[in-house]
Amino acid sequence: VRLLAPDCDITFILSQDGSGKGAAMVTAVAQRLALQSHLDLLMKDLIKGLGKHSHHKAAVKMLPTFVRSTPDGTEHGDFLALDLGGTNFRVLHVRVLEEEKVVDILGSQTCSISQDIMLGTGEQLFDHIAACLADFISSQNLKEQTLPLGFTFSFPCEQKKIDESILIRWTKGFNCSGVEGRDIVQLLKEAVQRRGVSECDFTIGSVAMVNDTVGTMMSCGYRDQSCEIGLIIGTGTNACYMEEMRNVKRVEGEDGRMCINTEWGGFGDDGTLENIITDIDRTIDQTSIKPGVHIFEKMISGMYLGELVRLLLVKLTEQKLLFKGQRSTTLLTAGTFPTKFISEIEEPLSGLENAKRILSSLNVPYDFVDARIVRLVCDTVSSRSARLCAAALATVANRIRVNRGLKHLKTTVGVDGTVYKKHPNFSDELQAMVRLLAPDCDVTFILSQDGSGKGAAMVTAVAQRLALQSHL
Ligand code: GLC
Repeated sequence: VRLLAPDCDITFILSQDGSGKGAAMVTAVAQRLALQSHLDLLMKDLIKGLGKHSHHKAAVKMLPTFVRSTPDGTEHGDFLALDLGGTNFRVLHVRVLEEEKVVDILGSQTCSISQDIMLGTGEQLFDHIAACLADFISSQNLKEQTLPLGFTFSFPCEQKKIDESILIRWTKGFNCSGVEGRDIVQLLKEAVQRRGVSECDFTIGSVAMVNDTVGTMMSCGYRDQSCEIGLIIGTGTNACYMEEMRNVKRVEGEDGRMCINTEWGGFGDDGTLENIITDIDRTIDQTSIKPGVHIFEKMISGMYLGELVRLLLVKLTEQKLLFKGQRSTTLLTAGTFPTKFISEIEEPLSGLENAKRILSSLNVPYDFVDARIVRLVCDTVSSRSARLCAAALATVANRIRVNRGLKHLKTTVGVDGTVYKKHPNFSDELQAMVRLLAPDCDVTFILSQDGSGKGAAMVTAVAQRLALQSHL
């Protein structure tokens, strides 16, 4: 070659298993390029949501939380924490200990929220909450104390200050009437008043309203002060992060940072995700309690993953690719394939056995190949979820890096949620994808332990510290 092409200086290197590694490389690059376009779209939406004049029309709401500081480790005291975001409501008595840097739960009580309440009136919901709170306060002998209260309310709320939180809209299967557009703190206070003094003589102290992402970030922030992103992948999905005040155009002031609740579940509500949405996604959306709302969440979170798999299995059966084309009434019924089945079927060792047990319970005539296909379907649905979530998280991490003019960012994410915690390889896949998509960010993940409860207390404690400091 040197003789025949004297003007070309060609170096030869031996390929080591080019067909295998090369194919993997091509796939990885293709994945990165496909996800890259979502990164760009989401970044545009984040900026739109922060803008003073553009936020009204933004699908990703980017809500100011009025949390301006992560914990500095000096916070302390006793607090009440309330937590509403799924099928349970919890009340906790929490103690923040400065010396040991720990948050202790002194007592807690859980009240379930029935489907009737989730879809009933706001008055019913808040009366139920107030009753549960009253019960707890009296069982813990806390009537004489008026403890500061942190309320983790995991729905999109427009906050004007830390103790005023207007519900924009319900998500995750809730649809209580008369609450959207109203201040949650006010509704809680009214419900306590409705009980009357005779029934319950407790009063509500200062209140701090918190989204679960913020609670998660703050509870992890007490342990690791570089925790400045909170991530939830459970019944719903969402993230918050510390944004520079100069970019939060809707709130006055240029100095310091404020935690922004992205409400990234709403990504795609304006049609941005049209080119990746499948027929099955459309069915999930149209048959949901709130069609057209939280499209991204419906592709990712635990409330929908099982149903996505079920609909895919039904479709493959109709195409005679599964179960010899034989339908099962059980599988045709909505809700018969809960998301926890996906985790069970994807278990590395017991997965196939679990698949067979589950398929038997669904009354489908399966064979060995069917069981393997079902496993592949579960893997496809959960992998898509992990990758989309990784793309969104990489966008947020990159934003923080660019905001600070850094070539390289080292940051920590506090994470909570059943999908992340319970699925056998969701967290690994998500983390690997974030490394691929945000190569300039070194992201550490820490699991939050009871972030909604402890985090709400933490936010209240930080708010108190800041209030005290401003008086000094
Ligand atoms: C939904 C809610 C959001 C919450 C998330 C995780 O997306 O709108 O506020 O953080 O679920 O619970």
